[in-house]
Amino acid sequence: MKRSRAVLISCLLALAALSCVSAKTFLKLNTTNDLKRIYAEKKPTPDEHSVPLLYLLANDINIVNNNIYPNFDPTNDYGSHFYGNSDRTPLLDPTPQGCYYYTMGNYKLIKQPNTCSPFRKLPPYVCHPKGMNTNMNRARIVLCLSRETYRWRIHRVYLTQHYENWNTAAYDPARTFEVSPRLLRELQWFSLHSSLVGLKKLRDQYNRNIDNNQLNDIVKKWGGQNHAALALLLFLLNLFNRRMNRSYGSEPTSNWQSCALQDIYVDVVTGDNGYATIRWSGFSEKLRNDGAAIVLNNHKDRVYVFDKSDDSSGSLKNIVPLNEGLQVRLHKISLSHSWFWSRLTLEEEICRGEEFRSPDAVPITNYAKLQLFVRDGYSCFRLYIDNCSEWKSKFSNSWVALYASDTEYTSNYKSKQWQWVTKFKQRPDSGEFKIYEYCTGTMVAPGLQARFMIKDYNEEARTPEWPSPYKDMLLNIFTYLMHLKRSKSQQ
Ligand SMILES: *[C@@H]1O[C@H](CO)[C@@H](O)[C@H](O)[C@H]1NC(C)=O
Ligand SMILES: *[C@@H]1O[C@H](CO)[C@@H](O)[C@H](O)[C@H]1NC(C)=O
Ligand SMILES: *[C@@H]1O[C@H](CO)[C@@H](O)[C@H](O)[C@H]1NC(C)=O
Repeated sequence: MKRSRAVLISCLLALAALSCVSAKTFLKLNTTNDLKRIYAEKKPTPDEHSVPLLYLLANDINIVNNNIYPNFDPTNDYGSHFYGNSDRTPLLDPTPQGCYYYTMGNYKLIKQPNTCSPFRKLPPYVCHPKGMNTNMNRARIVLCLSRETYRWRIHRVYLTQHYENWNTAAYDPARTFEVSPRLLRELQWFSLHSSLVGLKKLRDQYNRNIDNNQLNDIVKKWGGQNHAALALLLFLLNLFNRRMNRSYGSEPTSNWQSCALQDIYVDVVTGDNGYATIRWSGFSEKLRNDGAAIVLNNHKDRVYVFDKSDDSSGSLKNIVPLNEGLQVRLHKISLSHSWFWSRLTLEEEICRGEEFRSPDAVPITNYAKLQLFVRDGYSCFRLYIDNCSEWKSKFSNSWVALYASDTEYTSNYKSKQWQWVTKFKQRPDSGEFKIYEYCTGTMVAPGLQARFMIKDYNEEARTPEWPSPYKDMLLNIFTYLMHLKRSKSQQ
């Protein structure tokens, strides 16, 4: 009797253990608010570096009726590898038929040492985001994947992490969560709003208590507007700049303000013959009465000062040769007069526009990128190459050429405006990449495009067309008119 009871109990225990194994559920995160809650309440606190990783995932998938399809290779890109779920107590349920678990996020994973990697790397905003604590490479995303005829499908997304002491390769079940497609869609919504106008919209939607100065500060500490919506998200989750002592950005000690956050628009655009044109709009009556000077800076120096206070909008054409980094700054002024002269003195800075930037580089392969950029008004090619040595043999017959527009035939490049890739000049590294450049004799102009031929006329990549200044201007005028309408309706 006694013995059979013991058997019964051990059977029950075994059953309980079994049911434990087959029904692992984790808290399901549906919104950024859920994310906020787990970082505020969960002990031990989940790794904050999970958020940039999740943001990366959200930005590289398509969600169709809650079905998730990756735009990348989830078995190789972004530090991914097969995950066996084979710890002593497996983290997850056994994979459903036809599914595999893959884990992504290990930025130290090198699949083929010393070769130009055929796989996509995790971007710097995930590995070493500015304004956050050091990334200890613990955060991971586990995907439950199945192969459809010609693509991968993601069935489940788990956010997880390694234990703080790396004695085991296992993941910490106490800090594992399921991520719903709804949260991923919300993160996609964020990524659509990285312009200053977009950031203000997000701020109005999520937390109106953040003022323009704080918003300005977030963008500065993040190191620019690239993925600044992620910085705002981290701020909303109380993860940004939490225990940071150092400040980042180009000028850590100065306290500059962004003009666009004050509804003043100043920018540098492509003028004629490789020259820079300055434009402004939104100068209020007060600003004009008090007097303000438009100052053009490059990275170090003032290159041009113009006392302009009569018009609320206008432009100054073809001032200096166009270069990356040119920026308009507005300054207060004081005037002193005598019988013979009147002198303008620049006083404190009011605000700054954005630095002039060439359009982003485009990928050629997963280890090289091509950019069309401007130096002293001329159209130049720039190659970004991963830290690997055999690229020269892979590109031994490759060349880059300049085209008048996106619609030109491949053979119709601008005469003499091309170069072999192996003849590009090496420049100082950008940290992440080796840089090689070549400048043509053609001035930048809207529509110009660079194309990369791997060999003969086999095109491998083309840049976006050099932007026309009118597109942004229309957008700015539109934004300004909306602003006027809004302030009128508030009166
Ligand atoms: C997320 O939604 C599911 C239902 O779809 C619900 O069961 C779960 O509790 C929600 N998660 C949170 C954190 O509220
Ligand atoms: C943080 O900054 C303060 C003041 O600048 C300094 O005294 C302190 O040592 C810094 N702490 C760390 C951990 O760097
Ligand atoms: C580039 O690779 C070399 C050799 O593999 C290595 O020693 C060096 O640290 C790498 N540099 C960077 C910036 O990763």
